[in-house]
Amino acid sequence: MTSHTLVTGAAGMLGRALCETFEPHFKLIKISKSGRENTLACDLSNLSATRKIFENQKINLVVNSAAYSDVDGCERDPEQAFRANTVIPKNLAMICSEKKIPWIHISTDYVFDGKKRSPYAETDPTGPVNIYGMTKWAGEFYALKSASPAVVVRTSWLFGAHEPKNFVNAIVECLRKEDEISVLDDQRDAPTYVKDLSLCVQKIAEHLFDFSKNNPDKAWNEIFHVCNTGDTTRHEMAVAIRDFMGLSKKKVHVTDRTQIKNRVAIRPDYVAMSNRRFQDFFKMKIRPWRESLSEYIKEQCAS
Ligand SMILES: NC(=O)c1ccc[n+]([C@@H]2O[C@H](COP(=O)([O-])OP(=O)(O)OC[C@H]3O[C@@H](n4cnc5c(N)ncnc54)[C@H](OP(=O)(O)O)[C@@H]3O)[C@@H](O)[C@H]2O)c1
Repeated sequence: MTSHTLVTGAAGMLGRALCETFEPHFKLIKISKSGRENTLACDLSNLSATRKIFENQKINLVVNSAAYSDVDGCERDPEQAFRANTVIPKNLAMICSEKKIPWIHISTDYVFDGKKRSPYAETDPTGPVNIYGMTKWAGEFYALKSASPAVVVRTSWLFGAHEPKNFVNAIVECLRKEDEISVLDDQRDAPTYVKDLSLCVQKIAEHLFDFSKNNPDKAWNEIFHVCNTGDTTRHEMAVAIRDFMGLSKKKVHVTDRTQIKNRVAIRPDYVAMSNRRFQDFFKMKIRPWRESLSEYIKEQCAS
């Protein structure tokens, strides 16, 4: 049986990488809000519009990567944050439960309060400190209550997919133009290359697809942390980017939060996650972030 997979958020940074990875293996139905990047347009916070997608297409697996992921934007517009980050998974949980469709919901390290000083495990208590984290946490709730098999994939600090907005691309651009740059050193997190994450999501998708074929009436609601191995700060990462670009003469200074304009959301200080559970369960290694970053920078600098 072929997997007909609905990928939401398909025009976003992760969505595009997911589609590239899934395309050779699965038949894809790609959705975004606007319809850009050869996707179908649908506001998935609208339940009847979402139902129509499921009525008009054959779908037996869903990967929900749609979100309002702008952390400060969420603080300014909580209504939009709620619709994208909570109502979409609520709608998908309802439809997937009715139709017994397994699904994967992408979530975030920002469900944690950032007070721990060792990598967060799936069993650690959550405690979001901003609107983005709260609305994503509420979205997880619906996935975990789904009557069809559903896996919550928590990930963190994405880079890759030629997305101009991400931190790594922004630093690459600055280092090309400036001799000295200043970067924050206030948060520890696990960077994640969207190409590596997409391969892990594919592994989960294949497992879910087989599980629901063999257990048509069973739910399986799980959380996995999927990020590159290790953790770092933005400053340490900018130094690594500089070195991988062969520009070690350029200076990377540390700056503080007071120098950053338009930052309205509180950030958790420490949100590195352990990916041990995923690696053990799926018997699949996830690379250290430096290895993935080095590969991505080489690709970026060659293009
Ligand atoms: N970026 C990070 O560093 C990061 C870190 C941890 C977790 N995550 C999670 O990873 C996932 C992907 O993030 P991303 O950075 O790839 O996001 P992104 O680039 O901002 O893309 C979000 C996608 O969601 C779509 N979308 C938003 N609202 C929608 C709606 N109402 N109806 C239908 N589609 C809607 C957007 O459509 P348009 O293209 O039309 O705008 C876009 O395609 C999200 O779940 C996010 O919470 C991201």
